[in-house]
Amino acid sequence: MKEIGLGLLGFGNIGSGVVRLLEENGDIIEKRLGAKLILKRIADVDIERKRSVAVDPSLLTTDARLVLNDPEIAIVIELIGGYEPAKSFLLAAMKNGKHLVTANKALLATQGNELFREAERLGVNLSYEASVGGTIPIIRSLKEALSANRFLSIMGIMNGTANYILTKMTDGGVDFAAALKEAQDLGFAEADPTYDVEGIDAAHKLAIVLTLAYGQRVALDEFYREGITGISKEDIDYARALGYRIKLLAIARQGRGAIEARIHPTMIPEGSLLANVNSNFNAFHLEGDASGSVFLYGQGSGMMPTASAVVGDVIDTARDLLKGVSCRVPARACPEKMIDAIILAPMDDLSTNYYFRFSVIDRPGVLSKISGILGENNISIASVIQKGRREGGGVPVVMTTHRANESDVRKALSAIDRLEIVREKTVLIRMEDPNL
Ligand code: HSE
Repeated sequence: MKEIGLGLLGFGNIGSGVVRLLEENGDIIEKRLGAKLILKRIADVDIERKRSVAVDPSLLTTDARLVLNDPEIAIVIELIGGYEPAKSFLLAAMKNGKHLVTANKALLATQGNELFREAERLGVNLSYEASVGGTIPIIRSLKEALSANRFLSIMGIMNGTANYILTKMTDGGVDFAAALKEAQDLGFAEADPTYDVEGIDAAHKLAIVLTLAYGQRVALDEFYREGITGISKEDIDYARALGYRIKLLAIARQGRGAIEARIHPTMIPEGSLLANVNSNFNAFHLEGDASGSVFLYGQGSGMMPTASAVVGDVIDTARDLLKGVSCRVPARACPEKMIDAIILAPMDDLSTNYYFRFSVIDRPGVLSKISGILGENNISIASVIQKGRREGGGVPVVMTTHRANESDVRKALSAIDRLEIVREKTVLIRMEDPNL
């Protein structure tokens, strides 16, 4: 039976999962492939540490060149993460004609243009299913199964840590710091949790999704990003009282001549599918013009779910190798020369519903002052809640609006926050109806 040699760069949590999966499911993989996948070498800076999986010590090396230059290795799996040396290793491997599988979203989102062009020029596959949504086949769905569609909108919960924190704050009465600590202990937070809670990790994933869906490249700083650090238990409770849940959503929408792209905490109706994606799960709600709604749900992180996506890519690449083809499906859904710069709709032009929580002095005339300023800025109020009084301090007044324009909202809030009756900066949360 034909054998295909694999090399692994990075023997951490996901790397261990890949080794385990290749071992435990080797029989079924071999049956599906009609060939054997042989792990030839594993490189890591630390080969002494005990892993959750046992390997033949002769496979281990601290010298990545033994993977990059081994002629018996046809597919290199990069699970080091970060920018360097991962990028140099990927470039060196492709120069040696090796096909690549990676989970490195940060690298692909920021330096993918160079890597994907080079891979295409050299005729090697560069696969990255595990980089977005962990085990969920979002990349393959966008570039293969749904490739006949125009994507009217894509809304995703793309960061499990942020979703875990918001879920715990909503259902578990846990505060932000305790929920983050739990997420870190469970092993799905990034090395730097700022990436999770500030929406940077979700931005990496949205950038990858945007190129796949629209054939346009985008830089991370081009679209609006806001994390969940400003979300308080109070807002979560008000959202619930209004029949909503707060989720960190990554949103892409096809507008007229421009794409809307943004990441921010979003209030969505509690009955919608996305509102019920809890704990560290990820999900994508795609709206294709022909397909209609498509909903994908699963584990966005974790050793075996992520390994499932990585090994799926390895099997795909091995199938190409067995047929003597490569780059049959373009890595980014379009041939590289067809990918152009994105035209993004300015955030100021956004039109949606809003939730405001004002902190004001409790005295007659306050509401009319606020609603006056909202009215002057074309913002129509949909509902108002004021509960309780706080001696001396500000009382919360919560309002939701009908559809309003982002630049009008910003103008109105900056005027309201200058009023002497206002005690704290007003909280703004955008509302969406994912129409599920
Ligand atoms: N830190 C990421 C998350 C891991 O929490 O979703 C997977 O990318």
